[in-house]
Amino acid sequence: MREKELIEKAKRARLRAYAPYSNFKVGAALLTRSGKVYTGANVENSTYGLTVCAERLAVFKAVNKGDKDFVKIVVATDRNPPATPCGACRQVLSEFAKSLKIVCANLKGKIERYTLKELLPEAFEERSAE
Ligand code: THU
Repeated sequence: MREKELIEKAKRARLRAYAPYSNFKVGAALLTRSGKVYTGANVENSTYGLTVCAERLAVFKAVNKGDKDFVKIVVATDRNPPATPCGACRQVLSEFAKSLKIVCANLKGKIERYTLKELLPEAFEERSAE
């Protein structure tokens, strides 16, 4: 799947955010090795702490379908510079994809690219790789 298409999917997903408290809408589009795309948007809650980020919703949808080999995630926001995934989402992503590509896009067409390793070096792992 072309990156441009994945960015469009993340922007479209962003419109489905439920964010009446922060008014900050986030969309995510997660591409798996099988070529499938799982989207997510943030879902807030009046207790604030129960809010689920766009990235985690996309991850949980994919994992629930048994699709756990992640290649790339696009995160779309209306922020300049484009927002990067929060720390909690980085850790959740690292559970499934050590070499994930992360693309952060905003509505003005600005795109910033990272690897998960760059954004979360030394992620927690319960089991050692040895
Ligand atoms: N948010 C996300 O959806 N993803 C992130 O990586 C950062 C924050 C959401 C949570 C909350 O609904 C709003 O953005 C403001 O923090």
